[in-house]
Amino acid sequence: MTRHFLEIDDVAPAELASILQFASTPHRRVLDGHGVALVMGLPSARTRNSTEMAVVDLGGHPVAMSGAELGIDSRETAEDVARTLAQYHRVLCARLPDHGVLVRMAAAIDEAGLDVPVVNLLSDQGHPVQALADLLTLAGVAGGIASLAGSRVAWVGDANNVAMSLGLAAVGVGLHVVVASPEGYRFSQGDLARIDRYAAAAGMGGTVSQADHPADAVGGAIAVCTDVWVSMGQEREREARLAAFEPFRVDGSLLDAAGDGVVLLHCLPAHRGEEVTDEVLEDRRSRVWAQAANRRVAMRGLLTWLVEEAR
Ligand code: CP
Ligand code: NVA
Repeated sequence: MTRHFLEIDDVAPAELASILQFASTPHRRVLDGHGVALVMGLPSARTRNSTEMAVVDLGGHPVAMSGAELGIDSRETAEDVARTLAQYHRVLCARLPDHGVLVRMAAAIDEAGLDVPVVNLLSDQGHPVQALADLLTLAGVAGGIASLAGSRVAWVGDANNVAMSLGLAAVGVGLHVVVASPEGYRFSQGDLARIDRYAAAAGMGGTVSQADHPADAVGGAIAVCTDVWVSMGQEREREARLAAFEPFRVDGSLLDAAGDGVVLLHCLPAHRGEEVTDEVLEDRRSRVWAQAANRRVAMRGLLTWLVEEAR
């Protein structure tokens, strides 16, 4: 059966470890002679570049297309786009605003009996390839993935697509995740239950919990993580969001409250002065550029796992 990667919990925790292991060992030309499609239905700097370069690293040929150019569900159905791209490519990666369209593409590939994994390059619901890079970055801080279990990471801000994937990935390696978000922008009970289920499957003691105030979340954390207050597609909510999130800005004093050794993670793009200050992005505690660099490393690990090991 073809394995897709639409969210972290599409892979078992042991498989997540295997992906990270592939990322951490020298890469091989596992895509030699193969194409990889990148459907870019939303803007991107890091995701498109890191994925294209990872495909090249593995000996493959990336073909990036805009959503507008493909005309998904206007020029032809998402199902027909997926089946068409699967005629040429070994893997179909897509960034789309509606997660449901990714699910339809994966289902169309399954129904056609094609062995072409679909990879989520960010949807309104998740950003799992970012979470892989975040784990690699945290491992770099802690001295290895195995050293992460039992530590705490704080998420401050919107419990959004990036937070969901990071929450799942973090408990998958035994981390404690504490999320501080304003009312109305927190994880739902269903989201928390989903993360709890993945933590239980991992069996490494990872937990997820919510805090009302940023200061309550960051104490003792090895990393404070954040993301924009207004994600792609939420532009009309901008004024309300800016007002709600104002007390949730990550600044120097919040990092100080976390304690010695804490690092700042932000998937980028950052809106300097909104969710994060200029000062802390440029602080010695910031790991955002290592995090961006790890996107390529993580994508090599994922693609290698998908074509070599996934069953
Ligand atoms: N972090 C991230 O996914 O960046 P892009 O939106 O630029 O790809
Ligand atoms: N939450 C952001 C992440 C961008 C990489 C968004 O969805 O726009």
